[in-house]
Amino acid sequence: MPVLPVGERIYEVGASHPERQLFDCLMPTPHGTTYNAYLVMGSEKTALIDAVDPEKTDILLNNLKESGVTQIDYLITLHTEQDHSGSNTAVLSRYPMARVVGSEKIRDMLETHLHYDPGQVMVIKEGDKLDLGDRTLQFMMIPFAHWPDNMMVYLEEERILFSSDLFGSHYATPKMFATSSAEQRLAAKSYFAEIMMPFRAQISRYTAKVRQLKPRLIAPAHGPVWYDPDVILSRYERWTGDAVKKLVTIPYISMHDSTQVLVERLAVKLSAQGLSVVCRNLGNRPDSLTLETGHFIMDLVDAAAVVLATPTVLGGPHPNMAYAAMIANAVRPKTKFMAMVGSYGWATQAEKTLTALTGNIKAERLPTLLVKGLPTQDDLVKVDELASELGQRIQALPDLLES
Ligand code: FEO
Repeated sequence: MPVLPVGERIYEVGASHPERQLFDCLMPTPHGTTYNAYLVMGSEKTALIDAVDPEKTDILLNNLKESGVTQIDYLITLHTEQDHSGSNTAVLSRYPMARVVGSEKIRDMLETHLHYDPGQVMVIKEGDKLDLGDRTLQFMMIPFAHWPDNMMVYLEEERILFSSDLFGSHYATPKMFATSSAEQRLAAKSYFAEIMMPFRAQISRYTAKVRQLKPRLIAPAHGPVWYDPDVILSRYERWTGDAVKKLVTIPYISMHDSTQVLVERLAVKLSAQGLSVVCRNLGNRPDSLTLETGHFIMDLVDAAAVVLATPTVLGGPHPNMAYAAMIANAVRPKTKFMAMVGSYGWATQAEKTLTALTGNIKAERLPTLLVKGLPTQDDLVKVDELASELGQRIQALPDLLES
């Protein structure tokens, strides 16, 4: 990513990583990602807001050179995770006069994760301001807008909010300002699902606070800058709210077609009631597990219901289903209803295992349907009954979003 002007004497100097396919060894990033670092030059002092992933240190250093900056006074770390702080040391080697700026929590986490001497960090707290001369940076804490240490910083005079992971997207594009293509909005939703959704209540409060702030521009730590903040703020308001869509997501596996027959019947019967249905095959290809689980987790941002559909393997659910269920449990979706269907050959503990794995999902549970072998006509009648019950309950929800 070249040096990109964000405003007068404000530059994006971070790095693009389009070939990155997985984040945190977990989250699929089919569009790669970026590690944004922002250089803000005041009349007296210059601040660099965040660094980049250590793998891309050279790009950051080259960009800083290209920007013409000769002195950095402050290296502000908005969040300790290494994709933003991992190249701090290289920056400090090039610009030894720079003071690392962070909250108390960031100071502690830099000590833990990067073995920084706590004395290296100039500690700021909520509401503190950093004077750059003709420009002022104000700090706002947003704990758990990924880790406990995240914070934002607001450039008052320009009304630019540097929002750290909040409002980010794993989306590498050379067009940093060509925001809000459908593809990028989807990347932002996927990012919200896996990073922000587990902390929905806090994220809702932060979004409201940013609304009040009325930033002219939101510059996150990943993905394009939100040139029109309402695009992302209105989505965050919806995603953090309680309302859901008339959507049923069905992650499934089928080894010998029995579970597949159940899923197809269920999907047809739910669709016939005017519901949207997405079926996510977690076992179709070698990369299905990560990619389709990623899609499934994104569905959970606003799906009214989830139906886990699995065959029985060695007495329990298929391991791919256990993986997806575990992640779904971790992101604590607002999904209103949950059911399980599946098949077995001679005995099964699938329901028991999946129930134990999904205790954080506070959805109302519908009766589980597990069939022995290939579904019979009687089994399909039971699928129809499940579809009917689920459909009626979703349609009766008081607060439904447009699909
Ligand atoms: Fe982009 Fe939580 O680091």
